[in-house]
Amino acid sequence: MIDFQGVLTSINETASNEKDKGKIADYIPELAKVDVDNFGIHLIDIQQNIFSAGKSDEKFSIQSISKVLSLSMALGLIGEKVWKRVDVEPSGDPFNHLSLLELENGIPRNPLINPGAIVIADILVSRLENPKEEFLAFVRNIANDDTIDYDVDVAKSEKRTGFRNFAAANLLKSYGNLNNDVDVVLDFYFHQCSLSMSCAQLTNTFYMFMNHGKCRRNNTFLTVTQVKRINAIMLTCGFYDEAGEFAFEVGLPGKSGVGGGIVAFLPNKFCVATWSPGLNPKGNSKLGMLALEKLTTETELSIF
Ligand code: DON
Repeated sequence: MIDFQGVLTSINETASNEKDKGKIADYIPELAKVDVDNFGIHLIDIQQNIFSAGKSDEKFSIQSISKVLSLSMALGLIGEKVWKRVDVEPSGDPFNHLSLLELENGIPRNPLINPGAIVIADILVSRLENPKEEFLAFVRNIANDDTIDYDVDVAKSEKRTGFRNFAAANLLKSYGNLNNDVDVVLDFYFHQCSLSMSCAQLTNTFYMFMNHGKCRRNNTFLTVTQVKRINAIMLTCGFYDEAGEFAFEVGLPGKSGVGGGIVAFLPNKFCVATWSPGLNPKGNSKLGMLALEKLTTETELSIF
């Protein structure tokens, strides 16, 4: 029997004592208001036993973690046609880089960098009658939790300062890979990224990725093949130009966000989420990465 609670308690202690907690993202001004000392970790195993330490129930902005959920919804709606508009290769570039987009004629390298997620947002805007409401309902349904919501202040804040995303969307439009108005697609994208969740809620939502597409209530949201594809993309692209480092240190598929959240999982075994808002220079949570490295090292559980 693995003592998950013991490991999480010790991770929380180590994190609290760490002096250098990284740097809060301030390019979205609303995110800069968060206290860098926050730390939370929550784990659910496949039998649905739960373990937690620190501020595991406090909500934060999940930001790029939402890209996995929008991709899941788009795959469910249009299936493999998604891959005509976005590739599945790691970019080796930061999440907001634009140069590859021009070199590769408007086809983003993968759905987890910003231009790729903007194409996915365009697919949802085309397919849904009320995109923001329906996407929120999709996420709430997976998590079985109606308290999950957008943080409208964060969405507005990003809209005011999201110049690179406006540039990306315009570039995509110039290559014919954006069917709707730039403003409409980005309004959806900024709301999607502003989803506010706790570590506990994140593990409830991502449980399905370790459980062959079935949520905690055993309802199917994704086929086994879709889960295979999404998990592969998380492993190879979930941490941008640090995806190799995350695989090397932690050894799990997962996804980070600039709000300081990370969710990761071992298929058929457990799903874990951490929150520590200070980021490393690559834009991933500094202590979140250290915490997950400690978790997989101490439990000797990773995909490898
Ligand atoms: O588009 C952006 O820049 C943000 N809404 C999301 C970026 C993000 O979370 C990158 N992840 N580490």
